[in-house]
Formats: sequence, C-alpha cells, structure tokens
Amino acid sequence: MNPSRPPVVAGNWKMNKTNPEAVALARELVAELGAALPCEVVLCPPFTALTDVSLLLGGTPLRLGAQNLHTEEKGAFTGEVSGAMLRSTGCTHVIVGHSERRRLFGEPDELVAAKTRAALAAGLVPIVCVGETLEEREKNETASVVERQLAAAVLPLPPDAISHLLLAYEPVWAIGTGRTATPAQAQEVHSLLRARLGERFGESGRRVRILYGGSCTAENAGDLLAQDDVDGALVGGASLVASGFAQIARAAAGIRAR
Ligand code: PGA
Repeated sequence: MNPSRPPVVAGNWKMNKTNPEAVALARELVAELGAALPCEVVLCPPFTALTDVSLLLGGTPLRLGAQNLHTEEKGAFTGEVSGAMLRSTGCTHVIVGHSERRRLFGEPDELVAAKTRAALAAGLVPIVCVGETLEEREKNETASVVERQLAAAVLPLPPDAISHLLLAYEPVWAIGTGRTATPAQAQEVHSLLRARLGERFGESGRRVRILYGGSCTAENAGDLLAQDDVDGALVGGASLVASGFAQIARAAAGIRAR
C-alpha cells in the first residue's frame, strides 16, 4: 500500500446468491461495515440482485458494481445488459475482462478493450482484470501476457480516462483454487503494471490503484496488501461471507494507516 492511493476492496459474488440471499448478505455487510467504512468497498452481485442490493446500500458509503456489461448502449442484443442500464440500478463500478469471461465465454483482448471504453462512456469505473494462466507462468510468459492485456484495454485510453479506472491483477491459477500468489509474486507483477502505466500516462498512470485477486482471504490479505504496489483486493469466494470480507476491508485500511 501507498498512502497516496486509498485502498479499495471489491467483492465479486460471481453467479452466487438469489435475490433474498443477496439482500441478506448485503444487509450483514452494511451491519459489519456500513457505519464506519474502513476503506472503499464495492459489492458486485449478479445482475438480477443489483436493484435490490442497491436499495439496501442507499445512504451507506458502500458502492455497487456489476460483473460484466455489453459494449453498446442499447439495441437488439438479447440477454445483454448495457452500461446505462447498470448506472440506472445504482452501479458505480463494473468488472471488465475477468478471466472467467475471457476463458469460459471467449472474450478476446479487443472485446475487453471495447467494454472498458463502454464502461467509461457510461460513467462507470471499470475494474479491468489481467492475469496469466499457470501454463503461461511456467513458460515465463507472465510479464508478456499481462503487458499484452494492459496494452489492449488500458494503454490506448485517453489520459483523462485513466483516473477513472481500477486495474486488477488476477493470476488465473490463483482464482478459486486456494493457491494464492505470494506477496512477492503479486508485488512483482503490480510494479511492472505500474511502470507501464507510468510510462504511458505519467503521474496519473502511477496513481492507478491495482487490486490483487485470486484466493484472497482474511488470513492472507494483510501480507498481500502490505506490498507497496498492492492497493486493494478483488475477492471472490471470501466475499460471500460477511465477516471474512469485512476483515479483508479492515486489513486493507489497517495497513494503510500504519
Ligand atoms: P477467488 O476469486 O477469490 O474466489 O479466487 C477472485 C476473482 O475471481 O475475482
């Protein structure tokens, strides 16, 4: 963490929680965190629960995010959801280019780039995800993969867009596997990403907050967030339990205050 970059913790609920379950979890989180939010916190429930969760978060400092969006504002795209629609539910953030979208739904770099632009155009903060597979890491391709993903989605953006964006480094081999990147592994990639952002955008590029994601838990969050270039966490499984997720948010805040 670096005090000039306020920590942010986002919970990616993925395809979990019916509406009543989502409301119950959000209610617990408001009780745990709502009154004295330790750091910026974003909840990303499934599309179906956005409106209900939004109503619950109204008047609290917790923010709402979606997990995906379409590139167009409206039209004949059956089953899709636009940035404007997300905004109208109360969303302020949207996850873009998550590795599950890239791998399971075949989203290439160009589509992730278009979605990033669409999110910004809709006034949403994109949380742009990059990360290598285990095979790529074993072939020493980590740097080239994340640089390619960054070059596609983020580096071509106009300079004034860069302060409205969050980046997430999520090694694919760490997602949902219980195998977290070591703090040193995370720091190495985060500092590389920050260097590239700085080369392209100068100081505003270096200020981009970079979240770590991949089996982040209340137990390991403190060590990960203690790294200079780790500015927060994108949390999957551990965001489904209010007490654990709240602990991660507190860990993020505690490290910053030190
Ligand atoms: P995980 O997922 O915390 O369950 O590994 C992280 C993510 O996919 O964002």
